[in-house]
Amino acid sequence: MKALVYHGPGKKAWEEVPKPVINKSTDAIVKILKTTICGTDLHIMKGDLPDVTDGRIIGHEGVGIVEEVGASVSNYKKGDHVIISCITSCGKCEYCKKAMYSHCVDGGWILGNLIDGTQAEYVRIPYADNSLYPIPAGADEEALVMLSDILPTGYECGVLNGQVKPGDVIAIVGAGPIGMAALLTAQFYSPSEIIMIDMDDNRLALSKTFGATQTINTAQVNAVDEIMKLTDKKGVDVAIEAVGIPATFELCEKIIGAGGHLANIGVHGKSVTLHMEDLWSKNVTITTRLVDTSTTPLLFKTVQSGKLEPKNLITHHFKLDEIIDAYEVFGNAAKEKALKVILTS
Ligand SMILES: NC(=O)c1ccc[n+]([C@@H]2O[C@H](COP(=O)([O-])OP(=O)(O)OC[C@H]3O[C@@H](n4cnc5c(N)ncnc54)[C@H](O)[C@@H]3O)[C@@H](O)[C@H]2O)c1
Ligand SMILES: [Zn+2]
Ligand SMILES: [Zn+2]
Repeated sequence: MKALVYHGPGKKAWEEVPKPVINKSTDAIVKILKTTICGTDLHIMKGDLPDVTDGRIIGHEGVGIVEEVGASVSNYKKGDHVIISCITSCGKCEYCKKAMYSHCVDGGWILGNLIDGTQAEYVRIPYADNSLYPIPAGADEEALVMLSDILPTGYECGVLNGQVKPGDVIAIVGAGPIGMAALLTAQFYSPSEIIMIDMDDNRLALSKTFGATQTINTAQVNAVDEIMKLTDKKGVDVAIEAVGIPATFELCEKIIGAGGHLANIGVHGKSVTLHMEDLWSKNVTITTRLVDTSTTPLLFKTVQSGKLEPKNLITHHFKLDEIIDAYEVFGNAAKEKALKVILTS
């Protein structure tokens, strides 16, 4: 089969590799129908995630058809259409019992990281019973690709950890797919203001169509001053960090109001400065989280009912074998006006 293989920082190839086989009775082999590229894959390509080694097939999102199941898989059979979760969970360990699947002792975020991933014609999914979600006939499978990672990530790490409440003023730093997923799912709770902060005017304009009430371009104005103007110098109730660099985390520290929640989503490769000299007296809560995908079933219902329309996040379509071109477009998102790209087999 063909797959996108990582060969060290800056090097990748769409090449012939062996088709995956069942290793354990709990595995399933899934034929990929649709997959996508994540901001995290770009981090991998830059060499920011040293656990990802030469020869790894990357990608941790997608939908597909079950091709084969191991003897102990009971929830799925050949021919079933499934959502592949970016998080693998055994369902039995101490962490899985707490629905903290991201820390599963034999799983977590391993797909396209420690084991071969979904940017391929076929993928092996360990613990298939717990790591796949069924797709009913007639569902919009393209929209459901957004349930593999970005929607649960924005919702769990941003909105739930940020404890967004009705009437809150919230700021989301980073209008990439993850920030947009936080923007869409924050609206379940009717915040009064959602202020999107980014440096990309196209993404900021798009965020208004998804429900942002204000936008701030940090490349053009001082975001802290703007937030203070908009909030009567109080700062925001919830600041969601969806970039993953020191500057944006420290921006969140500066705009968080008394009693507020700072919810970090970004994957950080460098240390950030925690300004305790300003924060110690502010009754703030700072949270971090790796997505657990424990909310996937709930989010699935909101997509099926039309309450959530993640399809609008998709800006570009490619065939799976055009993945190198798709990386080029997604890697130059501002120039290409790209948000989420879909690759179809
Ligand atoms: N915690 C988790 O479980 C988890 C899961 C998935 C992704 N992530 C992380 O979430 C982050 C966002 O992912 P994404 O796919 O949306 O990434 P992305 O790169 O597509 O989007 C990031 C956005 O931040 C903006 N940006 C960059 N520098 C900025 C600055 N100084 N000020 C304001 N905006 C700035 C960019 O213009 C871009 O729109 C990444 O760090 C990703 O690795 C975390
Ligand atoms: Zn991802
Ligand atoms: Zn487990």
